[in-house]
Amino acid sequence: MTIDHVLINGGETLAAALKRCDDNCLGLVVAVDNGGRFAGVVEVGAIASSLASGGSLGARVDGLADKSARTLPAGADDATMAKALNGAVLPLLDADRRPVGLASAGRKRRIPVAEPVLSGNESRYVNECLTTNWISSQGAFVRRFESDFAQRIGAGHALAVSNGTVALHLALLALGVGKGDEVIVPDLTFAATINAAFYAGATPVIVDVDRTTWNIDPAAIAAAITPRSKAIIPVHLYGQPAAMDEILALARRHNLVVIEDAAEAVGARYNDKACGAIGDAGTFSFFSNKLVTTGEGGMVVFRDAEAAERARRLRDHGMDPKKRYWHLEIGYNYRLTNLQAAIGCAQLEQLDGFLARKMEIAARYAAGLGPIPHMTLPAKLPGLKNSHWAYSIIPDMARLGITRDELADRLERARIETRPLFYPLHAMPPYKPHAGNRAFPNTDWLSENGISLPSAVSLTDAEIDYICGVLARLHTTRRLVQDHRIA
Ligand SMILES: Cc1ncc(COP(=O)(O)O)c(C=O)c1O
Repeated sequence: MTIDHVLINGGETLAAALKRCDDNCLGLVVAVDNGGRFAGVVEVGAIASSLASGGSLGARVDGLADKSARTLPAGADDATMAKALNGAVLPLLDADRRPVGLASAGRKRRIPVAEPVLSGNESRYVNECLTTNWISSQGAFVRRFESDFAQRIGAGHALAVSNGTVALHLALLALGVGKGDEVIVPDLTFAATINAAFYAGATPVIVDVDRTTWNIDPAAIAAAITPRSKAIIPVHLYGQPAAMDEILALARRHNLVVIEDAAEAVGARYNDKACGAIGDAGTFSFFSNKLVTTGEGGMVVFRDAEAAERARRLRDHGMDPKKRYWHLEIGYNYRLTNLQAAIGCAQLEQLDGFLARKMEIAARYAAGLGPIPHMTLPAKLPGLKNSHWAYSIIPDMARLGITRDELADRLERARIETRPLFYPLHAMPPYKPHAGNRAFPNTDWLSENGISLPSAVSLTDAEIDYICGVLARLHTTRRLVQDHRIA
């Protein structure tokens, strides 16, 4: 976004300014006089107020320009800019008061959806692996990571594995799910959830999600249960806990196992129990965009010691733990390295701080975005602690004439990275046959309209305020453009 995208001559009309606001995605213009000198800022909110009180779109821009709007000198250093900004977008003026640039939180960096924070003991522990030569999957950090993790979430048995996908595969195998069994999965999730069912030789059954929690709908599960049903995989999507009481009650009634896909939900709690430690098994991902990361990595936890033992054996080629190179069944190499576990141990030490920051980020977004009409934010429900791994919203811009993907493009131009919500599994070729003749209205709606905003622990308050400001102005701009049919 350069200054050219926001500049407008003060003699132009408000209609032209509005068009500019729409094109530049920032919802503001910077007016200049005929000599190119700063003549004030016009935010789209001022245009909205003027029109609401009978003003005309044919009026001159300079009539509405805020001449005393804050500006910064073109040579301002990073510290000065950071101090002045607080989420705002400010023109940078040269010595002759000509606007030559824009300062905003998006100028410093493209604000990422996620990024790891590795500022604890990560390098010290990894170095310890290097200097002691313990770099493969045998090493003290692997055992420490497993026991720290099990303790942290209150799980009986934890096994570190190569990633969150194989964690699901191991959980299914260790709990005896295989050929001929049906595994009920939500339509709105990452493909790993359903892929693992295929790896186990089972038959996935896709069901719709709940419109409020965005997680698997217990009523849809109940309707999909058949005599062949063997397992349910609720996913705690984006850190929001699934309806575990209802799911466990169904599982008990129909003798099903429950594997919680908590890949995105480390730190989330359901009625004060850690997500992932509530069902028969729980799985976690430590991919680099997750709250706790090991680069690639995962954990599978079990309630039952026997299932955990079976998973341990399968993780290591099905080898007899008492007899090296004697294989009791066909297994896999799903081990995590000591190097990765070293990073994981250091990450766990910081988890409380990470979670606290996630709560602050969510609260700041809620305050900034809450007043925007028709904006659906993550539901706050009694007894559920959302870990807010990805702060995701349904901005419902379709009613304002732009699709979710067009919104993402606009935010990208403002240097704000976003991520679409997952596509419905039932819509994708490999999974379509597993949708039966069920309807998926909630997943369809969420998937078409939902977007995840920057949610990294490293996000600053100024960045959040900037993102909220851009979204609010974008909303006002689109409303005016629609109402006044600006082409
Ligand atoms: C819901 C869900 N399940 C499973 C996985 C798989 O985890 P991994 O990428 O570590 O294999 C992910 C990862 O992104 C996920 O989001």
